[in-house]
Amino acid sequence: MKPKIMNVVGARPNFMKIAPLMEEFKKYSEFEATLLHTGQHYDEIMSKLFFDDLGLPQPDIYLGVGSANHGAQTGQIMIDFESVLLKERPEIVVVVGDVNSTIACALVAVKQGVKVAHVEAGLRSFDRTMPEEINRLLTDQISDFLFITEKSGEENLLKEGIDKKKIHFVGNVMIDSLLNHLKKAQSSKILDDLDLKSGNYITLTLHRPSNVDSKQQFLQILNALSEIQKEIPIVFPIHPRSKNRLNQFGFEDKLKEMPGLLVTEPLGYLDFLKLLAESKFVLTDSGGIQEETTVLGVPCLTLRNNTERPVTITQGTNLIIGNKTEAIVEESKKILNGNAKKGRRPDLWDGKAGKRIVEVLLRSF
Ligand code: UD1
Repeated sequence: MKPKIMNVVGARPNFMKIAPLMEEFKKYSEFEATLLHTGQHYDEIMSKLFFDDLGLPQPDIYLGVGSANHGAQTGQIMIDFESVLLKERPEIVVVVGDVNSTIACALVAVKQGVKVAHVEAGLRSFDRTMPEEINRLLTDQISDFLFITEKSGEENLLKEGIDKKKIHFVGNVMIDSLLNHLKKAQSSKILDDLDLKSGNYITLTLHRPSNVDSKQQFLQILNALSEIQKEIPIVFPIHPRSKNRLNQFGFEDKLKEMPGLLVTEPLGYLDFLKLLAESKFVLTDSGGIQEETTVLGVPCLTLRNNTERPVTITQGTNLIIGNKTEAIVEESKKILNGNAKKGRRPDLWDGKAGKRIVEVLLRSF
């Protein structure tokens, strides 16, 4: 029997991180690589569309856990994943990113004596009100392989007492996916479909609980958008969490008063990549989009008070501007007036992170 490596995905940002690894594993016949999907995200537009766009194989195992509060969701993944592990007995479980599926599967694996590899380790916002920060901290403490995307990750992990031998600076698998798919994305028809002109619109994404779960805070952002859409169209592919909140807070009328704000369903990977690449600039509270805009050379204004990805600030096109109306309007106008931040691509964000990770894992057998 060949040694088995089980790769875990759960939520939308996991899919583009695991795709380059699955591709790389194909080159090695020494071990069997399987894919497990927890089903944390389950809608066609949040999950299946990404499998198709990224050329990901169908998951070998699908847990179908769905949405719930944090305790219930994390707990359900753990219960279901434990039964799978007892049967499958992989040598290594690979988890990516910082979602609930990441910590749930890492915790079950380590308790069964299965080695855990954490891809995108060491990132820290130092904001423990973010569920992702808790997931990152705990996953890193129990992982055997910590694959980091930027040097800040090593400093953070060493301060937390992680053995240097476990830390591997390999680059960024999310950027592997971006570089692999950029050419294909160029032929997406999304700009025509939405009647947009290259370089003459802004892309907006919003889904952090800290921005959309409070009515007052969400309103701060909508008031800024109301000003900005007078100058340039804004496209807003809306995350289900934010859509639920918009309805719950009764903001539909407010949106109707903004003809320049185009709210769409969530987009697939290729359409979204095209949309990002041709944007004048991007407004976001996502983690991964801060990195993608840096590589695309598109200015990014991050509507948060911190970032776990500081290299996008020190080297990239990203600016942290908080989430208050005045700051969002002011910083947007600066870019519209020709004062956009320029950046460069960080070290090892070269499309070969997946290759480096698989080589490290292979050496451990
Ligand atoms: C999760 C991750 C977050 C990541 C984000 C990307 C955690 C703690 N959070 O947040 O780190 O940035 O995914 O999207 O793991 N829903 C659907 N369809 C789906 C999935 C969710 O309609 O396929 C709705 C449900 O109403 C659900 C809500 O969206 O309650 C939020 O989903 P959830 O997975 O709990 O958190 P996200 O905000 O998506």
